[in-house]
Order: sequence, then structure tokens, then C-alpha cells
Amino acid sequence: MRFFIGTTNPGKVREIGSILSATGCSFERTEPVDPEETEEDFEGNALLKARAYAARAGGVTISEDSGLIIPALGGLPGAWSARFSDCELDAGAGRVVGHRRSDRPREEMDRANNERVLELLAGVELPRRAAMFIVVLAVATPDGEILFKGTGESHGWIADAARGANGFGYDPIFVGQDTFGKTYAELDSMRKNLRSHRMRVLKDFKAWLGRYLREHRP
Ligand code: IMP
Repeated sequence: MRFFIGTTNPGKVREIGSILSATGCSFERTEPVDPEETEEDFEGNALLKARAYAARAGGVTISEDSGLIIPALGGLPGAWSARFSDCELDAGAGRVVGHRRSDRPREEMDRANNERVLELLAGVELPRRAAMFIVVLAVATPDGEILFKGTGESHGWIADAARGANGFGYDPIFVGQDTFGKTYAELDSMRKNLRSHRMRVLKDFKAWLGRYLREHRP
């Protein structure tokens, strides 16, 4: 059975494709849509993206919205995770007060986002460096019906400096609770995929997929 993956982020495509490789289904990337994320939370944006990408692909499409939450920064980067370094902050209040799109290449943006988080947490000690990744995954049909929706989390803290070259996004500064002090970017992809927020939500997705395939197989 054929599904689409709706995202412009190659890091997400790699991880979703690899975690789902044993299902026997094909997961094809849609053409880029990159709809404006106008909702305030991960769930709203995940549903919005799944519907927009499914409408473009013309088939059942998986999409997700994810990000990093740091309680000591009032929950930031949160829904602004992908473009945190483009944001104007009222850091004391943990709020974004403005945003100017720089359209920098993704890797440059990721590096700048990490630097910004490290700067904001300079001098902050554990346990106040606690952080978590969250992902909301949604599966939509081209006419906008939501077939599946699920959430995954992974907990840890922010390292003192960026380390490692694997993964994407905030991986170089995120140390998982169960990664023996290593950042996600210091883990090989298999080890990250065993413990990440994405793996957790995709486990629930796979259980749903089994039921869906039993009902829809010709
Ligand atoms: P969006 O879901 O496209 O809005 O972007 C989510 C952003 O959160 C990404 O650009 C990354 O910066 C960050 N992010 C989400 N999941 C991960 C992950 O597994 N590792 C590192 N960063 C992540």
C-alpha cells in the first residue's frame, strides 16, 4: 500500500522512512507545499499540514509538527522551533514578539537556532536545562478526513555546547535521559530512532496501520 510523507524536512523523511521500513508499505515524499503554520499549537499545525499535503498528493498522507520545549525559557522554542533564530524575543517573559523570515538554508538556520538556545541558557545549570521534544503526527485523506492522530515525547536536557554531526535540527544540543550523556547528534541513526519522540509516535502509528491495512486490503 502506498502512503505519502508530507514535509520539506529531509531529516524527518529519513527518520520516518527508516522507522517504517519494515511495514511493507511504500512511503513517498510529496511535492513541497510548506503551508504557513498558522495554528498556535503542534496539534493544530500537524492537522493543517497533513490536510494540505494530502490535498496536493491526492493520496493518504502522513505529516507531523514537532519541536523543542524548554520550560526555563517559558516553553520556547516550542511552535517556533524551526525558525527560532528569526524570532524577536521578549526572553524574560518567554515570548516571541516578532518574526522576520530570513529564508536561510536549513542547515544554517539549524546552527543559528542551536546557538540561540545555548546563548539563552548561558549560566543556567541543571536541572533548569531540562528540555523535551514533542511531535504530533497526523494522517489525512485528500478530502481532509483525519484517519490517525498521535503524540510522542522524549525528555532530556540541553548540553553546554553543540556536539556531534548526525541527525538534524536541535540534535547537537539535546542530551536524552537515556543516552548516557551523549547528544542525539552523537548517536547513530539507529540508536536515535530507538528512543526518539518520533519513534514513540510511529509505534502507535504502526499499530493503527496494521488495523487500517486489515480493513482496506483488496
Ligand atoms: P516543523 O515541524 O517543520 O515546524 O519543525 C520542527 C523543528 O523542530 C525542526 O526544524 C527542528 O528544528 C526541530 N525538531 C523536530 N524534531 C527534531 C528532532 O528529532 N531532532 C532535532 N530537532 C528536531
